[in-house]
Amino acid sequence: MSRLLVYGRKQLRGETPIQGAKNSVLPILAATILTGDTVALQHCPHLRDVDISVQILRALGCDAHWEMDTLVVDTAGLKGWKISDILMREMRSSAIFLGAMIARCHQAELSYPGGCELGPRPIDLHLAGLRALGTDIDDSGGTLHCQTCGLLGRELVLSLPSVGATENLMLAACGAEGCTTITNAAREPEIVDLQDFLNACGAEVRGAGSSTVTIIGGKRLHGCTYTVMPDRIVAATYLCAAAAATGEIFLRNAKEEHLTTVTALLREAGCEIKNDTAGIACCCHRRLQAVGPIRTAAYPGFPTDAQAVLMAALLRCQGTNVFEENIFSNRYRHVDELVRMGADIRVSGRVAVVHGVEQLQGACVCCTDLRGGAALCVAALAAEGKSCIDQLRHLDRGYEDICRDLSALGADIKRVAS
Ligand code: UD1
Repeated sequence: MSRLLVYGRKQLRGETPIQGAKNSVLPILAATILTGDTVALQHCPHLRDVDISVQILRALGCDAHWEMDTLVVDTAGLKGWKISDILMREMRSSAIFLGAMIARCHQAELSYPGGCELGPRPIDLHLAGLRALGTDIDDSGGTLHCQTCGLLGRELVLSLPSVGATENLMLAACGAEGCTTITNAAREPEIVDLQDFLNACGAEVRGAGSSTVTIIGGKRLHGCTYTVMPDRIVAATYLCAAAAATGEIFLRNAKEEHLTTVTALLREAGCEIKNDTAGIACCCHRRLQAVGPIRTAAYPGFPTDAQAVLMAALLRCQGTNVFEENIFSNRYRHVDELVRMGADIRVSGRVAVVHGVEQLQGACVCCTDLRGGAALCVAALAAEGKSCIDQLRHLDRGYEDICRDLSALGADIKRVAS
C-alpha cells in the first residue's frame, strides 16, 4: 500500500507529455479480438485497467506483451468466450468485450456488471443493440449467456448517446453481414480513435465523431500498428492543477480540440491557454474568478470525467460556482474529502454549489473514485501545508504515474509506502 504526500502552495513550472487515453485503449484492446492477428498499440498507457484487459485477453487464449510503451497483442490463439466473475468485478467496463467476442466466436459469457462507485452502470442499450443484430441473450442468474447463428447489419437507434454502447455495437457490427447504422451515437474523440483503429485493420466504419456511425460489416480484418490518442482527461487534470496552484506549464501531445469546454471555462476563470501542434501551454498567475454554471453532458458538452478536477481548481476562486452533474447519479463522492481541506461545498441532488474560500488546509484524505482522486491531488496543490492521499488504487486505474507527471510540472509530491 502506498500514499501520496503533497506539499501545496508551490507554483508549478515545467512540462510533461500526456499519456495515451485510457478510454480509447480499452475498447481498442477489445477490438483486437476481431483481427485474429497481431496488433502493436503504441503510446499505450501502463494502467491497472489495461493490465486487467490484458488478463482478460490472456484468459481467452491470446498473447500480449509490452515492448517499452507499445503493447503487442496477438489474438490468433483465441479459444475461450467466457470472462470470469473475478475479472468482471475488477473492471466494470469489461462489458466492452461482448460485441467483439460475439462477432468473432458467435458466443460470449460473462457476469452482469453491477453498480460501480459512480452509481448504477446499466448495459441495457448494449444488450438491446446486440439483440437487434441477431444475438440471443439470456441474462438470468447474474450471468449473460450470448449466442448467435450469425449477426446481420441493421439500423440501431440509441435512446441516449452511451459511449460504451456505441463502441460495443461498432465492434459487433464489424462482424455482422451488411450495413449497420448507429443513430444517436456518442460523439466522443475516443469513438473516432476506435473507428480509426478499426479502419487501420481493414474495417469499413465512417461517421464517428458525428451522431450517426455506419459500419459495413463482414470484412476480414488484419493486424496493424496503431498509436493511441492522448488522454484528454489527464490533460484536463494537469490544466486544473496549474489553475489551482498557479504557474506555467506545457502539456506535450495534448490536443485542445478535445478539451474546448474545459479550456473555455479555465480561460473564463483567468487562465491563459495557448495551443499549437506540439501541445497546450497554460499560464495562471492570479486567484481564479468564478465561472458560469458547469453542466456535465455528453460530448461535445462538458465531460463528467473533468467535473471533479475543475471543482478542485475552483475551490479558492472569487465568487460562487454551480456544478450540475447530469451523467452519473453518484459523482460527488470527492466532496466530503475536499470539505476536509476547508472547501465550502453544498450538494443537493445533482447540483453542487462551491463558494470560493480564501485558503485551503492540507489534510489526510482518501480517493473515492478515479477522477475524485485526481481532484484531491489538484486541491492538495492549492492547500497550505501537507496533504496525504490514500486509496491510490483508484488513481492507478487511469493515471500512469500522476506523481511523476506532477513532479515534472514542479509540484512537491511523492509516493511513499504507508
Ligand atoms: C464512458 C467512460 C467514462 C465516462 C463516460 C461518460 C470508458 C471506459 N468510460 O463510460 O469514463 O465517464 O463514458 O462520458 O470509456 N447508460 C444506460 N444504459 C446503457 C449504457 C449507459 O442507462 O446501456 C447510462 C449510464 O448509466 C450513464 C450514461 O448512460 O448514466 C452514460 O454512460 P456511458 O456513456 O455508457 O458511459 P460508459 O461507456 O460507461
